[in-house]
Amino acid sequence: SDEFQVDTDIITLTRFILSTQQKVQHATGELTLLLNSLQFAFKFIANNIRKAELVNLIGLAGASNSTGDAQKKLDVIGDEIFINAMKGSGNVKVLVSEEQEDLIVFEGEGNYAVVCDPIDGSSNLDAGVSVGTIFGVYKLLPGSKGSIKDVLRPGTEMVAAGYTMYGASAHLMLTTGQGVNGFTLDSSLGEFILTHPNLKINDNNKQIFSVNEGNTIYWDAKIQKFFQDLKKPQIETGLPYSARYIGSMVADVHRTLLYGGLFSYPADSKSKNGKLRILYECFPMAFLLEQAGGKAVTDSGERILELIPKAIHDRSGIWLGSIIEVDKYLKAIGKL
Ligand code: AHG
Ligand code: MN
Ligand code: MN
Ligand code: MN
Repeated sequence: SDEFQVDTDIITLTRFILSTQQKVQHATGELTLLLNSLQFAFKFIANNIRKAELVNLIGLAGASNSTGDAQKKLDVIGDEIFINAMKGSGNVKVLVSEEQEDLIVFEGEGNYAVVCDPIDGSSNLDAGVSVGTIFGVYKLLPGSKGSIKDVLRPGTEMVAAGYTMYGASAHLMLTTGQGVNGFTLDSSLGEFILTHPNLKINDNNKQIFSVNEGNTIYWDAKIQKFFQDLKKPQIETGLPYSARYIGSMVADVHRTLLYGGLFSYPADSKSKNGKLRILYECFPMAFLLEQAGGKAVTDSGERILELIPKAIHDRSGIWLGSIIEVDKYLKAIGKL
């Protein structure tokens, strides 16, 4: 019989989280609740991004944020959606957002601190290029009533992290420390569906580097030489690397997770500590890459996740990708 092909046993994000919760001892269900509030924020932001052009939500908001970025209307809307979703979750106590100068401490008894980049890649937004929301989650320190001490911590203490990229469809890449799982939003159902179970970075693909070469003259000489060497025919393939740079970290990292290769935003003479923010860009992406079998290091070759930010908007140079690619950089700077 021509049995019609309907998958009647789909794994939604909620079902997936509950199944992983059962595996984690003494799971209180609080992280499950928090992840459900996070997924609501992603759905709502995705909904606003989808209709942005129709309701004139693209373009500048006319203000700039504490890290000096000119704010797009969707930066502000994404930030407000995120703040309200975290406030409404009832279990977030502390929130750091790229768009908020200071830490937000909510009323109530939440046990988690969340760091987020509500709209990453917003400079590309008006051109219709994929943007995303990046997030990281810390459990409050024991006995904490919610303060900056809950977030000026190494990335190794994050209990969950990931991003949702708003591309042709919304893709959520999530880790809770047991690997990486990818979900795709079925907007007709309003559910994130598991589409990339236990994702591991692709290691045996064509060699790709992803960096803004417009900064070349500002780079350290070793970094200039490193990229020049990648443009020569490589021993393994007899071919130079391919260059791919979108300019939205979420999109560049998503491609790196799926295709392999090397992404970098080095510090340079213009931006002494690099451009990407440690808490809500470097840590979540480094956590994901490590959990997917990759690596993420600083310009000096230290493990990104072991950095301890001194202020909530601190920045760092970052190199991430498959181990084989990041190790080439470590070798070039004499760390391997
Ligand atoms: P955001 O839009 O959240 O401020 O982040 C922008 C970041 C990141 O998405 C991207 O990797 C980087 O800026 C691109 O910077 P350049 O335009 O200097 O390459
Ligand atoms: Mn910005
Ligand atoms: Mn960003
Ligand atoms: Mn942003």
